[in-house]
Amino acid sequence: MQEKLSEIQNQAKDDLANADSPEEVEKIKTRYLGRKGGVINEIIKVIPGLPPEQRSSTGKSANILKNEIGKWIEEKKEGFNTSSEGSVTLPSPGVKSTGGVFDVSLPGEHKPYGRKHPLTQTIDEIKEIFRKLCFDIEYGPEVEHEYYNFDALNIPADHPSREDFDTFYLGNKRLLRSQTSTVQIRVMEKKKPPIRMIAPGKVFRPDTVDARHASMFHQIEGLMVDEGVSFSDLKYVLTLFAQSYFGQDIKMRFRPSFFPFTEPSAEIDISCSICNGKGCSVCSQSGWVEVLGAGMVDPNVFETVGYDPEKYTGFAFGMGVERLTMLKYGIDNIRLFFENDLRFLSQF
Ligand code: DAH
Repeated sequence: MQEKLSEIQNQAKDDLANADSPEEVEKIKTRYLGRKGGVINEIIKVIPGLPPEQRSSTGKSANILKNEIGKWIEEKKEGFNTSSEGSVTLPSPGVKSTGGVFDVSLPGEHKPYGRKHPLTQTIDEIKEIFRKLCFDIEYGPEVEHEYYNFDALNIPADHPSREDFDTFYLGNKRLLRSQTSTVQIRVMEKKKPPIRMIAPGKVFRPDTVDARHASMFHQIEGLMVDEGVSFSDLKYVLTLFAQSYFGQDIKMRFRPSFFPFTEPSAEIDISCSICNGKGCSVCSQSGWVEVLGAGMVDPNVFETVGYDPEKYTGFAFGMGVERLTMLKYGIDNIRLFFENDLRFLSQF
């Protein structure tokens, strides 16, 4: 009798596998589980006539098979309910079918790759250039004390950059740093010469936002201090940097300028790559874009940090990361960096 039951089991399995419509499943249900003439019921009916020792075990097996076939029928029906045209029921390997549907005609799931923001890429690239020149990378706080942003940098109390409309004041002599030159002081307070460092970071100014100005932007400060450092070292390092970053053919212009913390000072322009020097909104129609301020560290600054100005000389520079990135890639509006538009960002 057990053999007969396992034959029925296999047959039911085959029948269900071949059924391709709910109607057919209904028929199979009647055939196997129907009260009158159903295969299982026919078996149950003959149990009383079996030898006593077979009755109980056959009854149990017949009941198990009945439940099993019932469950298969329900699963098969569910499969028809959830599948739609063109779909295939496809259980994952090793996982019991839940009647779920996998539509093979759907396009694959595409997860776009993340990438670094173009400004981060520029900062990384510049860090790498200066790392090769043995410059350390240093960082300083964005919320600063007035002392580091102004006093220690030889910026007098009446200097226009200290005005409210040029600096975000937080009260209690704190402010959002308006330049990364603050890090020069913090490093010189901690270390003795020789010093070679760059300090990348955010700076903040209440500027009116336009194609070239934002109220938060990035700078990279540089400082080299040792015995016998000269202006020609400054020119050499900055030329080497500009050629590494923009390519050998880059045009640079050093203009005499003034910064309270350097003497002499210079501003360095790069020829405008957006208009090829013809004049546009990014270069204020001049054909040049100022990207760097630089100079020889003022002896007053050395005295403030306790360095002997008779023994040491040094140069410092500060560059604008947004401008350098705009020039390199021909980006004509600084606001694009901060709008988080993936159509822009995914180009880098
Ligand atoms: N801190 C200046 C600025 O934000 C840039 C600068 C100029 C930095 C000259 C320097 C320097 O280190 O020597 O405009």
